[in-house]
Amino acid sequence: MILRILLAASAATLALGLVGSVSAQTPPPAPATTPAPADQTPPPADAGLPDGPGKDVTVRICTSCHEASQFAYARHTPAEWDMEISKMISAGADMTADEQAAISAYLSKNLGPQPATPATPTAPTTPPTPSR
Ligand code: HEC
Repeated sequence: MILRILLAASAATLALGLVGSVSAQTPPPAPATTPAPADQTPPPADAGLPDGPGKDVTVRICTSCHEASQFAYARHTPAEWDMEISKMISAGADMTADEQAAISAYLSKNLGPQPATPATPTAPTTPPTPSR
């Protein structure tokens, strides 16, 4: 009787030991994919748009359909920008009149036509006018 209990107990201990050793040998499951949030940094949404008043609203409104790079490197006169903005409005761009004015001002000021670099300074050499 006592022997039986002892046998049963040792069998149980053995089983437990086996289970324990098996699980100890199982390597921890390797993560299937290592998340790397640092590598997922998106490219800057503003595509290098110059800083200035109206940039935030321009980026917010003008990048909802396409990236800022669609227009970041464009150079237009104010009239052309207004045409461009009108075109975008008819494409479905949604903005208030205030936002449109801010975007127009921002684009005209910061993405205007590059002034042609004059080969020689063309400033007329007028003598300084005496103030009095
Ligand atoms: C409702 C969606 C939408 C919004 C918002 C939007 N655009 Fe566009 N934009 C388009 C589409 C569509 C095109 C054409 C893309 C193509 O043909 O590859 C485009 C093209 C352009 C082009 C390329 C030239 C051209 O006329 O095709 C410029 C520049 C441009 N957008 C500027 C802007 C600016 C500035 C804003 C903010 C005022 C803006 N977009 C907001 C839809 C939009």
